[in-house]
Amino acid sequence: MRSLAVRQLNVWYGDRHALKDITVDIPPRQVTAVIGPSGCGKSTLLKSLNRLLELDDTVRVEGQVLRDGIDIYDRGQDVTEIRTRIGLLAQKPFPLPMSIYDNVAYGPRVHGLANGNLDTIVQTQLEAVGLWGEVKDRLRTPATGLSVGQQQRLSLARTLAVEPEVLLCDESTASLDPISARGVEALIRSLKARYTVVLVTHDIDQARRLADYVLFLWMGELTEHAPAARFFADPKQELTQAYLAREVG
Ligand SMILES: Nc1ncnc2c1ncn2[C@@H]1O[C@H](COP(=O)(O)OP(=O)(O)OP(=O)(O)O)[C@@H](O)[C@H]1O
Ligand SMILES: [Mg+2]
Repeated sequence: MRSLAVRQLNVWYGDRHALKDITVDIPPRQVTAVIGPSGCGKSTLLKSLNRLLELDDTVRVEGQVLRDGIDIYDRGQDVTEIRTRIGLLAQKPFPLPMSIYDNVAYGPRVHGLANGNLDTIVQTQLEAVGLWGEVKDRLRTPATGLSVGQQQRLSLARTLAVEPEVLLCDESTASLDPISARGVEALIRSLKARYTVVLVTHDIDQARRLADYVLFLWMGELTEHAPAARFFADPKQELTQAYLAREVG
């Protein structure tokens, strides 16, 4: 994938207008942070990028999300393929009720990516998330036996095992202890060489540490967006300044 672009995106939950006319380009192979107060539409924007919103039938989406120029909402687009290529790492780890090995192997099996090479895929992905050394002697034991931080890294390995182009992270470190959170942060930073990352965070300091580009949402509107260095050093909007100074939100 070379580009991901949002064009005049509007989202409603019933009568509630949750995203208002969002237009923005998501820079490829960089980390884009989405920040703003609770309820401003961050998760909604993230879920609009891989059509996860449609799991809720009160939702109405207008506008476009262009992946290499093709609208993912076009009729005839394969929703499963989109959700695989644009993968979501949720806030809480979500191990499937199966072994550590099978959690990572699940996606490649379903999508026929394995070519008899499952062991290699599982090891490569567990190494990529720094989990291999910790679990290689208990690959066949249930994933639910891992710590929360380990489970989150396993969830990341599972998402990466199906070779996504874009990784969406919705407060993916919020439920972790500080050390595990830093571990997942470091992973996200290392992933951007290969993936386009869009992450939602409540943590302004985390956005400062991770982001190359920042989107600031306020009550469903994209009120400011800029490269991270400019955004943090010289925010143009009063709302942004107040939010960064923790005076609002
Ligand atoms: N399934 C839903 N049905 C109805 N309204 C919803 C639904 N999901 C979200 N909303 C509303 O849409 C708006 C945006 O919600 P969203 O979850 O995107 O916010 P957020 O910025 O992710 O908030 P938070 O920081 O608390 O996670 C809120 O007003 C929320 O109440
Ligand atoms: Mg949210």
